[in-house]
Amino acid sequence: MSTLSIFAPAKVNLFLAITGRRADGYHDLVSVVAPVEFGDTLRVEAQVGGGGAARFELECDDAAVPVDETNLVWKAARAFVAVTGWTGGAKFFLEKRIPMGAGLGGGSSDAVAALWALNGLAGGLLSLERLVEVAATLGSDCPLFLARAPVVMRGRGERVERLATEVAARLHGRRVLLFKPGFGISTPWAFGRMAATPTSYLPATQAETRLAAWMNTPGAKAEELLSNNMADVVGAKFIALPTLLALLRARFGVAAQMSGSGSACFALLADDAPVAAMTAAIHEAWGETAFVMETRIA
Ligand code: C5P
Repeated sequence: MSTLSIFAPAKVNLFLAITGRRADGYHDLVSVVAPVEFGDTLRVEAQVGGGGAARFELECDDAAVPVDETNLVWKAARAFVAVTGWTGGAKFFLEKRIPMGAGLGGGSSDAVAALWALNGLAGGLLSLERLVEVAATLGSDCPLFLARAPVVMRGRGERVERLATEVAARLHGRRVLLFKPGFGISTPWAFGRMAATPTSYLPATQAETRLAAWMNTPGAKAEELLSNNMADVVGAKFIALPTLLALLRARFGVAAQMSGSGSACFALLADDAPVAAMTAAIHEAWGETAFVMETRIA
């Protein structure tokens, strides 16, 4: 039986502009998103399908992760079968490392790893373009993970464009510190707060102008790109986030912000960044249950 082991990276939103609400209830956005070297691992073992129908199983090393059909790995498997008619089967083992409710894209990345693995087991039935379309039906943050590189995403997340080589090089390999408090934040709740506060939107023309200015400035630093217009509405309720971010900026001079709709945040680290002191400050503010992980932009 063939077994695949697929790395499912976390992501950070270096630039996130929610530009307005759409007729379908989703939001349009413009975001620069990058995978990092930290993530989950999905091991996939081919199974023989039974009775003409594909059969799947899912296990996870973290008991807090639901392994029923609400898990996006299951939804990815169901979607793959629906579009391909594949009759094989697979057993998934998820080694879960990315915290949930974090804005780090963990569930979305796992789903894309599952899609990618099944397509491999099935002999490449779907093109990359088709995989992107199927990924978009699973979640707005799924298509970006098929690029395996820093991208700009637009629309509700389904329009993904890789950054030009020189622009991606400004991000590639940058050290980042990820940190998350003991609580998570619901993405629909955060978008709901945006909708209830229309002044929180950044008009698309302004978002595109800011992004183009950064991209068109050769050698512009990653620090100059950081921005997230969900931070204010989320921070108004979860004040532990802006409080710690302000402290880290003031004490350590780092560029730091929330990723996606939170609750995880990240700081860009210089080579000589005092990571131990920053980690201590994070635990001091958020308690010992806070998650802290040093990694790099992939
Ligand atoms: O696409 P996904 O299922 O991950 O989105 C979860 C929720 O987040 C949506 O139901 C919606 O409330 C909100 N959302 C949004 N606009 C986006 C992405 C997500 O309003 N572009």
